[in-house]
Amino acid sequence: MSGGGDDGRGVHVKSSGRDSATLAGARVVVNAGPTYEDIDPVRFLGNRSSGKMGFAIAEAASLAGAEVTLVAGPVALATPAKVVLRVDVRSALQMRDAVLEAVRGADIFIATAAVADWRVAEYSSHKIKKGTRGARALELVENPDILAEVAALDPRPFVVGFAAETERVAERARKKLERKKLDMLVANLVDEHVGIGADDNAVELFWPGGSEALPRASKLEIANALVARIAGRFRAGRHA
Ligand code: PMT
Repeated sequence: MSGGGDDGRGVHVKSSGRDSATLAGARVVVNAGPTYEDIDPVRFLGNRSSGKMGFAIAEAASLAGAEVTLVAGPVALATPAKVVLRVDVRSALQMRDAVLEAVRGADIFIATAAVADWRVAEYSSHKIKKGTRGARALELVENPDILAEVAALDPRPFVVGFAAETERVAERARKKLERKKLDMLVANLVDEHVGIGADDNAVELFWPGGSEALPRASKLEIANALVARIAGRFRAGRHA
């Protein structure tokens, strides 16, 4: 792959060789990490996402020349050097507000966050005591689907979703790509060596009409490869 130019929206995207597409001038929003849904002042619902995959994508996109906004759930990671703006959030509702604000005028949205599907219907401002009413069953309500909301915007950025699957990866990934109207979907296998919480990942990338597997590698190596693929598809104008 070589050459480059203007994508028609004033964003100069170029590539200088196979797998080295760059995103000079593109505005990229990445969300990363888990969300924590507070139950009371000491307890929450959460998941095992460390934020490593999303931070690696933010770093790779910055190094490819993009102006990156990173919306981070509660993680213990330093901000990659070239990231322009980091917004820290805790809950899915906070992440939704921060992402919707950040994607205004953005070119690409990459949704690596493991957003909690549910939150408690009613937060208790006092610590729930053992044995009290309400301590045995939590009523949950569904959180908004941030990725689907961004994909429904008009105009919308190029939208890349992630999915952590333990089985029937390709079948589920294709369904998610279509249902959520995504430009790309990155499915990662989850086991004790790769995926959530781990240092390595192994992914399969899907887009309308194609797919590519990226074998196990460090999350930064996977991120660099993904950013090159995303830049290539974005440049090819498959976001219409
Ligand atoms: O953080 P790490 O430890 O490095 O792990 C990385 C990861 C495994 C968490 C990451 O690579 C990943 O796969 N993230 C997606 C996790 C997932 O299973 O998502 P999902 O199938 O619940 O959702 C699919 C997509 O919809 C995701 O892009 C997610 O960000 C988005 N989503 C989901 C629910 C919701 N309410 N809002 C959303 O935007």
